[in-house]
Amino acid sequence: MPPTTACLDKKVLKAFFNTALADRQNVVLQAAALDDPREEFARSVVEGLASSSRELECRFLYDARGSALYEKICSQPEYYLTRTEESILKKWAADISGLTGLCTLIELGSGSSVKTSHLLSAYQTRYDKVCYTPIDISRSALNDAGRAIAKQHPGIQIVGIHGTYGDSFPLIQCASPALVIFLGSTLGNFSPAEEELFWTDLSAHMRPGDYLLLGVDLLKDPGLLEAAYNDAAGVTARFTLNYFARMNRELGAGLDLDRLSHRALFNPEKERVEIFTRFDAAQTIRIKPLHKSYAIAAGEQILLEISRKFSLAGVKNSLSGFGLHPVRTYTDDRGWFGLLLLEKREEAKR
Ligand code: AVJ
Repeated sequence: MPPTTACLDKKVLKAFFNTALADRQNVVLQAAALDDPREEFARSVVEGLASSSRELECRFLYDARGSALYEKICSQPEYYLTRTEESILKKWAADISGLTGLCTLIELGSGSSVKTSHLLSAYQTRYDKVCYTPIDISRSALNDAGRAIAKQHPGIQIVGIHGTYGDSFPLIQCASPALVIFLGSTLGNFSPAEEELFWTDLSAHMRPGDYLLLGVDLLKDPGLLEAAYNDAAGVTARFTLNYFARMNRELGAGLDLDRLSHRALFNPEKERVEIFTRFDAAQTIRIKPLHKSYAIAAGEQILLEISRKFSLAGVKNSLSGFGLHPVRTYTDDRGWFGLLLLEKREEAKR
């Protein structure tokens, strides 16, 4: 099991958690001390550029501007993911609330509150006391989502957790019975190796009888996939170029953004959309806080993000290896997006 942070004491967290619940106040808890974002960004960029196959970490796409641009992507006509997932959730929220019974709703990545809102309404219709725990590394995203939810769902208990997934997982045990919500095909950003660590860690912190609600984008015609990441209005291009704009703002990179271009292609072997930035001309990236610079050649492409696409059978098969067993599988009429409800069961002795 990968380490979760040592400064987390379960008893203390439990005390915290219960206090918050007893008060019926909306609170935000800090899971662990977070690093200075700019320093972390600088270190990550240096690591990504120093390696022979240049790759950057996609989580840094989501600063305030990047998050706003992502929201805009979600309403582009080609980007079917968000609207398709929302339609499935809307249709099946009541069903899901009945299957899981009353439980704490823990959402990984607080995202836009719209999708979750359908679920919260269904739980509030069926049960009197509902607790919603969004977990996010962005304090502002957490506050915004919390405020919107509190307004739309009076009476709901909101306990936000500011922290990384890993740091926050010990809380899941304190909140059991729980439904862990992981939507938007965020899973697609993980490499298979990262995914394996993620499920191992999450599953170790879930108790038998806890549930997982997982949204995944499904394999489909590559033309549709590529269109979703190359919208005609150019919002996705602005979203990926914001990574380099952020480097200019925070790291003094000194890049001419007009000489960078966005490229998104489906890689059929790896079953993923790959999002690159192409350097149309040679440029040097400076990382001022760390006194480094990297020469990028004309025509070089840097991988910024991967978005894996899944099959329902593949997801079910891999998750059952972590003690997470499918209870229901929901999809849309076109079979473009999958929503899976899984239950944690006692692991078979090996
Ligand atoms: C937020 C990871 C689900 O992979 O579709 C959208 C991110 N990047 N357009 C995705 C994204 C470019 C998105 N996820």
